[in-house]
Amino acid sequence: MVSRDRESRGGVLITGASAGIGLELARRAAADGWDLALTARNLAALEVVAGDVGQKHGVRTVVVPADLADLTGPARVQEELHRADFAVDFLVNNAGFGTWGPFVEQSLESQLSMLQVNAVALTELTHRFLAGMRERGRGRILNVASTAAFQPGPDMAVYFASKAYVLHFSEALAHELRGTGITVTTLCPGPTETEFQDRAGMTDTRVGANPLMMDVGPVAEAGYQAAMVGRSIAVPGVANRVGSLLPRFIPRRLVRAATAFINSPR
Ligand SMILES: NC(=O)c1ccc[n+]([C@@H]2O[C@H](COP(=O)([O-])OP(=O)(O)OC[C@H]3O[C@@H](n4cnc5c(N)ncnc54)[C@H](OP(=O)(O)O)[C@@H]3O)[C@@H](O)[C@H]2O)c1
Repeated sequence: MVSRDRESRGGVLITGASAGIGLELARRAAADGWDLALTARNLAALEVVAGDVGQKHGVRTVVVPADLADLTGPARVQEELHRADFAVDFLVNNAGFGTWGPFVEQSLESQLSMLQVNAVALTELTHRFLAGMRERGRGRILNVASTAAFQPGPDMAVYFASKAYVLHFSEALAHELRGTGITVTTLCPGPTETEFQDRAGMTDTRVGANPLMMDVGPVAEAGYQAAMVGRSIAVPGVANRVGSLLPRFIPRRLVRAATAFINSPR
């Protein structure tokens, strides 16, 4: 098992740490001795996580409530952490959400908010915290995409496209940063037991009711381990790894049709 570099004194900033994969990553990182900066909108949930995890592992915790759909969200997070004298050596861009249904029937506002949280805020936070990492000559970035990143997704068109952006952006950045001491890892989970399906309104779809959905623990573990060794892409689970490769070998129209089927109501 890979553990963090004990020389490093900075902490980890985790977005979307109030639930699901982000919460599990907070537990995992604290168990390895990382100080935690936790952000999401739900302040009460963040305080519970910070209290439990901080006490259990004896790490410092800083809680920063922020709405990343708000254009000022990422800058506020950075300002708060600067004020708290919390240096970010490990950035986990995990916050994200999906919405299910035909694009034209979804509200424009919710689609634009999704792009803001899943793609724009992730990009802004990466840029803002990369500056400090470059000065210190070390850093880890873990961006949470999805197996949705590997193909277009009818009925979740904007969500799938936002995750393709995260994967391509992060892979390119990983290449640019070779040899700098800073690594960029993209975690691409498949369907995972969290609040995601419920929030997306897709619990009655084939994919949302998938009996093979992964537990959140192994998904977070795969992302954490990959970030610690600086691997560029992590796809947890054998079925997800196979699924992520298939679109390379199948005609695009069949890929679209298969994904439309998986995303359709049961
Ligand atoms: N579960 C899956 O099947 C699955 C599969 C592939 C990829 N993913 C990705 O994994 C990541 C984590 O999702 P999850 O499965 O853990 O879902 P989740 O249980 O719904 O957690 C989502 C987290 O994101 C935060 N968040 C949502 N909107 C936000 C906003 N506007 N501003 C700030 N924080 C916000 C939520 O906190 P608040 O509500 O407190 O703000 C929560 O902490 C997402 O990027 C998702 O796309 C999930």
